[in-house]
Amino acid sequence: MRKEKVILIGCGEHARMVIDNIEEAGNIEIFGMITSISEDVGKQMYGYTILGTNDDIDNIFKENPDLTGYFLTIGTLKDGNMKAREEMYRRLDKLYRAINIIHPTAIISRHASIGYGNIFEAYTRVANSATVGNHCIINSFSAINHDQTIENNVLIAGNVSMAGCRIGENTIVADGASIGFKKSVGKNCVIGDGAVVTKDIPDNSIAYGNPARVIRRNPHYSKV
Ligand SMILES: CC(C)(COP(=O)(O)OP(=O)(O)OC[C@H]1O[C@@H](n2cnc3c(N)ncnc32)[C@H](O)[C@@H]1OP(=O)(O)O)[C@@H](O)C(=O)NCCC(=O)NCCS
Repeated sequence: MRKEKVILIGCGEHARMVIDNIEEAGNIEIFGMITSISEDVGKQMYGYTILGTNDDIDNIFKENPDLTGYFLTIGTLKDGNMKAREEMYRRLDKLYRAINIIHPTAIISRHASIGYGNIFEAYTRVANSATVGNHCIINSFSAINHDQTIENNVLIAGNVSMAGCRIGENTIVADGASIGFKKSVGKNCVIGDGAVVTKDIPDNSIAYGNPARVIRRNPHYSKV
């Protein structure tokens, strides 16, 4: 099979994690990286060159017709902001193909449905009849169990226990959280580290604790 040849969009902490998974997967060539900080152009991350800024993406694709796609390596801000990712992929998906990154130790059921632009890190599982949208991040030791739905641009951090049925778009489920049986989390939410979700969580909520309580609205989406 032909190796994917891609550019990575974003040069922060998340990008380093993605590079590590790509190298271990072995089926993707990283052509270079894109930053939002012009002073960083020409620098390297883990040996890959930062080729340009967001304004250079179209030219890079034009000048390198053998590129097969891109991957979004913009992460989240600590306060639960998935917007920078969303803005970028809404622009790029009209023009370019976003690839999936599947670590060799990830197990994806052939009866699951997955979109594009997702990363399934080492030791993740997507079970039968589960649905994962586009541009999701599934971190190590988390499983999307059977019949569960993960909408677009969702971050499921490490060691999340998912017994629930749906996670809405742009939501972050932080490390070690537990989503209770058949419970749903709305869109644009942040579920804090170690939260135990025992009731449905409405859209635009920040919730944490055991049992998880809605602490406040997510200010980044307060007008949604
Ligand atoms: C959940 C989150 C929004 C909480 O932010 P916050 O409300 O500003 O929290 P603060 O750090 O100001 O803490 C406020 C209080 O809530 C408590 N608190 C914060 N997170 C908590 C959690 N997950 N569980 C229990 N209590 C928590 C703090 O201990 C603090 O208590 P205190 O007032 O008694 O001292 C933030 O931690 C967050 O965004 N986490 C997501 C991180 C992420 O993206 N993870 C994925 C990484 S891959």
